Amino acid sequence: MTHPAPLASDVVSVTVRAPAKVNLHLGVGRVRDDGFHALSTVFQAISLYDEITVEEASQLGVVIVGEGVDDVPTDTSNLAARAAIAIASHVGREPVVRITIRKGIPVAGGMAGGSADAAATLVACDALWQTGLDSSVLHGIAVDLGSDVPFCLLGGTALGTGRGEQLTRVLVRGTYHWVFAVADTGLSTPAVYGEFDRLRHAEPTIDVVPSRELIAALRSGDAGRLGAQLHNDLQQAALRLKPALRQTLDAGRDAHALGAIVCGSGPTCAFLVEGEPEAVALVAALAGSGTCRTVRRAQGPVPGARVIV
Ligand code: C5P
Repeated sequence: MTHPAPLASDVVSVTVRAPAKVNLHLGVGRVRDDGFHALSTVFQAISLYDEITVEEASQLGVVIVGEGVDDVPTDTSNLAARAAIAIASHVGREPVVRITIRKGIPVAGGMAGGSADAAATLVACDALWQTGLDSSVLHGIAVDLGSDVPFCLLGGTALGTGRGEQLTRVLVRGTYHWVFAVADTGLSTPAVYGEFDRLRHAEPTIDVVPSRELIAALRSGDAGRLGAQLHNDLQQAALRLKPALRQTLDAGRDAHALGAIVCGSGPTCAFLVEGEPEAVALVAALAGSGTCRTVRRAQGPVPGARVIV
């Protein structure tokens, strides 16, 4: 006997996977009138994920599962809760969902974990409520939630301008292999930007635009070329606030990484390697160096927030 296909209204829960990001280039410009910095950045989505399940409930609630749970708020200051409120308001519903966040992205690591959760929640609520919002509408809601949320929706590799939310896809050949050294404690993004402003005051010349060579390297698929072009204007500020990161970067360079960089506002450090064998060797070297709490491998680019169940 065959069973009828479930009706659309039978959907009771949706699970979405959203990726972390690394900035291959992070150029920071002037402070804008809204207080944000003008950015010119190249994001790449990588295969470290948070998984978000959204279910119908009698009230809005957030549950965190996995590493770093104690450091993630479960009230409406959680970006995922704010995403549910924002999309509910857009479609004229009450945000009465239970959001379960399974953390796979380091918390407060400069890898857009909170933004990934917000992007995933938008996609999950849209699927749960079957509101079928256009990607441009989701993008608009994402912009108001945070500078990195639109990229977490899009994924892949993209140039971000404005405050990082105006996105243009970048052509990339092949897959890049990354190793991430996760620090014992996080860094606050506003604090790193604040330190950047203090340092910038002393040295006001900046070129915020990614180099042509970076774009050409991505097009060629040559990891060695890309490694030489990695750049982060926030790195010096992150190192001032957390000087021990210098040892982490040096440990990766000494172990033959093709490129070593602080991820976004830090403190996670990213290392580019040629392939899987080199990634395995670098994980072992960094784990043995005693300069970080844990080490992860990942590949990029990968797609943005997507429904998996
Ligand atoms: O947009 P988001 O909430 O992720 O930004 C967190 C903080 O990072 C902002 O409050 C601001 O201090 C800083 N920021 C900035 N300029 C940007 C992005 C973030 O100054 N373009």
